[in-house]
Amino acid sequence: FVPDSLAGRRVLLTAGPTYEAIDPVRGITNISSGKMGYALARACRDAGAEVTLVSGPTALPSPTGITVIPVQSAQHMLSAVEASLPGQHVFISVAAVADYRVANTSEHKLKKQDGGPPTLTLVENPDILASVAARADAPFCVGFAAESQNLLDFAEQKRTRKRVPLLVANLAQQAMGADDNEVVLLDDAGRHPLPRQSKDDTARAIVAHLARALASR
Ligand code: C5P
Repeated sequence: FVPDSLAGRRVLLTAGPTYEAIDPVRGITNISSGKMGYALARACRDAGAEVTLVSGPTALPSPTGITVIPVQSAQHMLSAVEASLPGQHVFISVAAVADYRVANTSEHKLKKQDGGPPTLTLVENPDILASVAARADAPFCVGFAAESQNLLDFAEQKRTRKRVPLLVANLAQQAMGADDNEVVLLDDAGRHPLPRQSKDDTARAIVAHLARALASR
C-alpha cells in the first residue's frame, strides 16, 4: 500500500472552458486556460491511475499516456462524460462549464441588422458534476469552486448542494490563467488550506489527499 498512489484506479476528469455557439463563427465561453485540469490529469497519471480527460477548447498540448476527448459545448461534455463513466473510480470536475447556452443557435452567420442588436435567448446547461454525483453508481467525485468573494462559504454551499465528498476552492482572480494557485480543500473532516505553489504542486497535493481519502473508504 503506497499512501499517495492511485495505482489501479481509473480517473475521469473534465478541464478547460466550454464553448456555446451563437452562430458558426461566434459563441459564448468562460475564461479558463485548462492549466489546473491538465496538471491534475498528469498528476493522476504519474500517481499510477488510468486517466481519461474530457477537455473543452484549450491551447494546451495533449498529455501523453492519457486518453483525451476534445469537446466544445457543455452538452457535448456531458455526453462524453456519460460515455466514459462506466468503470471509473473517480470523477474530477475541473472544467469551467458555461451555465447557459444559446437557445436559438443560427445555422448561418448572423448579419448585422438594421433596427438594433439581436436578442440572445439563453437556456440553462446541465450541471455535469451534480448529475454524476447524484447517480446511484457514482464514482468518488471531486469538484472545484472558483469564487470571486466569500470563497469558503460559497464553496461549502457548493459542496453540499452538489453532494461531492471533496471540493477544491480557489479565488478566481488569483488562479485564472496563472501558473500557480492557492487552494483550500473541503471535505467531511473540514478545511485543509494548501500553500501558494505551482499548479503542478497543487495537483500533486490534491492527488495525495484524494489517494488517502480513497484508501480510507
Ligand atoms: O460553476 P460552478 O461554480 O457551479 O462549478 C462548480 C463545480 O461544478 C466545478 O467542479 C465545475 O466543473 C462543475 N460544473 C459542472 N457543470 C456545470 C457547472 C459546473 O460540472 N454546468
